[in-house]
Amino acid sequence: MENRDIDEIKKDITMSESAIESVLQEKRLFTPPAEFSQKAHIKSIEQYHQLYKEAAADPEAFWAKLAETELHWFEKWDKILDWQPPFAKWFVGGKINISYNCLDRHLTTWRKNKAALIWEGEPGDSRTLTYLQLHREVCQFANVLKELGVKKGDRVGIYMPMIPEAAIAMLACARIGAPHTVVFGGFSAEALRGRLIDAEAKLVITADGGFRKDKVVALKAQVDKALENNSAPSVEKVLVVQRTKEPIHMEAGRDFWWHELQKNASADCPAEPMDSEDVLFILYTSGTTGKPKGVVHTTGGYNLYSHMTLKWAFDIQDTDVYWCTADVGWITGHSYIVYGPLSNGATSLMYEGAPRKSNPGCFWDIVEKYGVNIFYTAPTAIRAFMKMGEELPKARDLSSLRLLGTVGEPINPEAWMWYNRVIGGDRCPIVDTWWQTETGGFMLTPLPGATTTKPGSCTFPFPGIIAEVVDLDGNPVAKNQGGYLVIKHPWPSMIRNVYKNPDRFRRTYWENIPPKDGQHFYFAGDGARIDEDGYFWIMGRVDDVINVSGHRLGTMEVESALVSHPAVAEAAVVGKPDEVKGEEVFAFVTLEGDRIANEDLVKELKQHVVKEIGAIARPGEIRFTDGMPKTRSGKIMRRLLRNLAAGQEVAGDTSTLEDRSVLEKLRGGA
Ligand code: PRX
Repeated sequence: MENRDIDEIKKDITMSESAIESVLQEKRLFTPPAEFSQKAHIKSIEQYHQLYKEAAADPEAFWAKLAETELHWFEKWDKILDWQPPFAKWFVGGKINISYNCLDRHLTTWRKNKAALIWEGEPGDSRTLTYLQLHREVCQFANVLKELGVKKGDRVGIYMPMIPEAAIAMLACARIGAPHTVVFGGFSAEALRGRLIDAEAKLVITADGGFRKDKVVALKAQVDKALENNSAPSVEKVLVVQRTKEPIHMEAGRDFWWHELQKNASADCPAEPMDSEDVLFILYTSGTTGKPKGVVHTTGGYNLYSHMTLKWAFDIQDTDVYWCTADVGWITGHSYIVYGPLSNGATSLMYEGAPRKSNPGCFWDIVEKYGVNIFYTAPTAIRAFMKMGEELPKARDLSSLRLLGTVGEPINPEAWMWYNRVIGGDRCPIVDTWWQTETGGFMLTPLPGATTTKPGSCTFPFPGIIAEVVDLDGNPVAKNQGGYLVIKHPWPSMIRNVYKNPDRFRRTYWENIPPKDGQHFYFAGDGARIDEDGYFWIMGRVDDVINVSGHRLGTMEVESALVSHPAVAEAAVVGKPDEVKGEEVFAFVTLEGDRIANEDLVKELKQHVVKEIGAIARPGEIRFTDGMPKTRSGKIMRRLLRNLAAGQEVAGDTSTLEDRSVLEKLRGGA
């Protein structure tokens, strides 16, 4: 929430009160089925309360006990938590390797030949890797990385389709202690370049391309563009997986085929003992200011937290086939496709494609084909399926499902009910998980064998998480009142820093609500309320971040992209509510004097944003205007623009507006 006018934010929270009204009416309760609870890791609400109490009384002892029993350590830590606000270190002095915990330790058990990854390609090809096979591939690839000069501490960029090699690459980096930075394959060459430069990546792992929505996504061509004219000078080498077999350019001395190096690599590569606080990965995410920030996660705490949250909140059991539909380019893919499931010795399903015109029912085909037991997706997907009708899922046998999860944005009660009835057959608990790139794992979530759920609420904090809803002075707000969601005690997978930018780390997360009496508040950037039964309800972002189909986008990022076009003088971007996507990008644009607003320019500007950021940022609508509504101090009043984009009456105070005629014109769509 850097550079944000606090008064404006306060108004936003008040405005959201109307949104509260609708969910306040939500009184339906869903208790866990008895049969589910009996077999679950956490069997009752009493057990949850007991764990919660124990963790709150002594968080350090609570996490230390779990770290000891659930993970393998090469060397034990000297100190559980070193908290120098806002910098936390967990299991200080401990030596650990997450790739060891995800692979090696399962090989001495019956899981050796259990499926670790089941992969389904979009064109219909598939592959299963057992823990033994995955271990071998990871070791070989780790040796390939070493041969190419990657050393402990070197950053490696990963820009891949959803193929097993993406997970192999991540685990191989972790194995040798090279922090990875995965860049979602839907980001443009420009966006990729920015991240590679910031992370000073030494090597990039990519593929010739991938298959998505019946198209070939030409990833290697984007990498070539990102590296053009040595514009990301830290990058020395590029490793390319052959996926689509489309012709690509291979630059001699820089580019290497994965399969050629992999086939001769030794499968002997012991996992490097990492310091618990060594960086595991950097993942870029959108914030309020223009450039995405590199969220830094370290090894031991992240390993523990992603492991425990998957185990308890998704009740992962050894017989489960578990499927998370996210992409490894997002934190959900990191924690809940790769690290959390594999650390638990689970079977994790990966799908390369997405529902598309030629196969809108592909998700249900896959559930039936592999007998998926646990299914985790985003509300935007659920709403899209609702629109398509019940016939598609009903035509498939979904009886294997026993638990459903959701993440990424608030789920409206109607979508929750549909998910419950049509996909879950009224028998699967729904786990609505609230968390963020920065939190590393679920923070607010039901435990499915214990928690009675309410449609649209992410229920309660995970044991060890002290969450509250407060005002800007850090005082808890009254029941059912909107406020800011904060976390009051460090947790093991907490963001450690913004890469190379500790100031931004402090400002963004720790200064919006200043520390009080030694209490520090992690500011999540979300509005929330707690109801009379203690249930948390997320109301959405309170900063200039919008959520398009569960993907986080900084409005200023899109604005910077727009103003980099020569026709644009000024741009302001807001989220417009959208029935399926949650929000859509809506841009107000002022043109340079000589430019004429027309449909061709709209198209050109939309394409320009795609080129600068990626298709996820493409504005749904662009409205040209002669001027922006600004305060006397020159700040754009986005609140008014949000009202206009949503087609609502402009609400709240407009007395600080400098020129009221601007508003009149905007209303008229001029
Ligand atoms: O606004 C919240 C929303 O997504 C934001 C985090 O985005 P990102 O870091 O990209 O991570 C997404 C996947 C963890 C949050 O600040 N969000 C995430 N989960 C939920 C949610 N909003 C409501 N309910 C959720 N379950």
